[in-house]
Amino acid sequence: MKLYIVENYDELSKKAAEVIAEEIKIKNDIVLGLATGSTPEGMYAELVKMHDNGEIDFSNASTFNLDEYYGLDDEHEQSYHYFMNKHLLKKINIDSKKTNIPSGCTDDVEKVCKEYDEKIEASGGIDLQLLGIGMNGHIGFNEPGNYFVGETHIVNLTEDTLDANARFFETLDDVPKKAITMGMKSILNSKKILLIASGSGKADAMYMALRGPITPKVPASILQLHQNLIVIVDNEAGAKL
Ligand code: PGA
Repeated sequence: MKLYIVENYDELSKKAAEVIAEEIKIKNDIVLGLATGSTPEGMYAELVKMHDNGEIDFSNASTFNLDEYYGLDDEHEQSYHYFMNKHLLKKINIDSKKTNIPSGCTDDVEKVCKEYDEKIEASGGIDLQLLGIGMNGHIGFNEPGNYFVGETHIVNLTEDTLDANARFFETLDDVPKKAITMGMKSILNSKKILLIASGSGKADAMYMALRGPITPKVPASILQLHQNLIVIVDNEAGAKL
């Protein structure tokens, strides 16, 4: 594991963007695994800047997002489709046919999940997977539980996650109770993983993920097994590491 503890959120955003930019420069047909949430917003802004300055070219890249709320259509302002378009995908020269996010609006969840995994596999697998971490240790929407789930699947979001994400909705009741998430197989099969976390609220989760036992009760702890893990945290999130 390569661990970078940086001063603050701005530094984290810049460092994370640099890591991704380097990978794109090495492999221009890169397959990126992308994440949503507040943490990567600054990093996406940096990538957009680099793109605008002509430093990086996304024309041959493809992307697979980790997750989507179940029941929100793509245009919903809190959907992860909307988030990705707003923060990155509509601001760079990527081919929209090469961007993938699980559909949260489907009657056939099983088919959506199966096809998502098949498409990731057909792409050759993810070269670089970006991950945030939940305060409960989740990655994507792989919530704490009694076992790890390998495939893309639908999950019931935990109370912790509903509470944490309520800030984006008018009321707690408006937060979707389910989501579709990439499973641990595609995440762990990624050639490189970049985990980012910011703020004191993430310090315990980061400690349990990287220094605690590997357990499905802390889904991120499985990342300890990955051969090529890069972690970037700010001082607050890294306080216990
Ligand atoms: P956050 O979410 O970046 O909004 O803190 C991270 C996550 O829940 O995975």
